Amino acid sequence: MADLRTGVWRAGAPGHRRALGVPASVSVDVMRIHVVDHPLVAHKLTTLRDKRTDSPTFRRLADELVTLLAYEATRDVRTEQVDIETPVTATTGVRLSHPRPMVVPILRAGLGMLDGMVRLLPTAEVGFMGMVRNEETYEAQTYATRMPEDLSGRQVYVVDPMLATGGTLVAAIKELIKRGADDVTALCLLAAPEGVEVMERELAGTPVTLVTAAVDERLNADRYIVPGLGDAGDRMYGTAG
Ligand code: URA
Repeated sequence: MADLRTGVWRAGAPGHRRALGVPASVSVDVMRIHVVDHPLVAHKLTTLRDKRTDSPTFRRLADELVTLLAYEATRDVRTEQVDIETPVTATTGVRLSHPRPMVVPILRAGLGMLDGMVRLLPTAEVGFMGMVRNEETYEAQTYATRMPEDLSGRQVYVVDPMLATGGTLVAAIKELIKRGADDVTALCLLAAPEGVEVMERELAGTPVTLVTAAVDERLNADRYIVPGLGDAGDRMYGTAG
């Protein structure tokens, strides 16, 4: 059931299906979805949506928004116990455990989310996946991959601003799981219901969580999120292809 106070939704729950306009009778596997319900998130997202927001402001706000999303997304980051001494006494605390978490931005637009992630997880390793959407078939194509072959036992945070059709994110997450990642969290600034459904269907039974600032209304005929914020890469970096 949707918990509207915390914004924690389970995709299979009736409340979540209602929010996405999905008939209650459709059977979907449960995927953890966290829509971060916070006034600062809503405020920053509104300015990102505004077409008058210029690229430098867009980049700064996207960075700030990622930090807020990352705070929620890392709630279950693995830690281990550590003994330390304060100036007063010996005590026990925690530190991020090994193997270290990995952050994977999907190029190009995911780069705009990287700083916000590593600010919160400074000891994380960073891998890169270059993926592009074929504008005729809307299929995701991988043009570069830079990360360890073996991700066994790793928690991975994959960042991509827009979950639209879901093709790119699903392909990226399947690759991470193929390499052994056993806990994948996808952080997106915005999601479309269609993309959420594709993730649920294609990644059923895999250990995946989605954290986003909002699930919008729908995709338009060009597969842009409505109301959305336009092309996230263009808004961040200008219109160079
Ligand atoms: N990618 C974007 O950058 N924006 C959208 O609305 C959909 C996909």
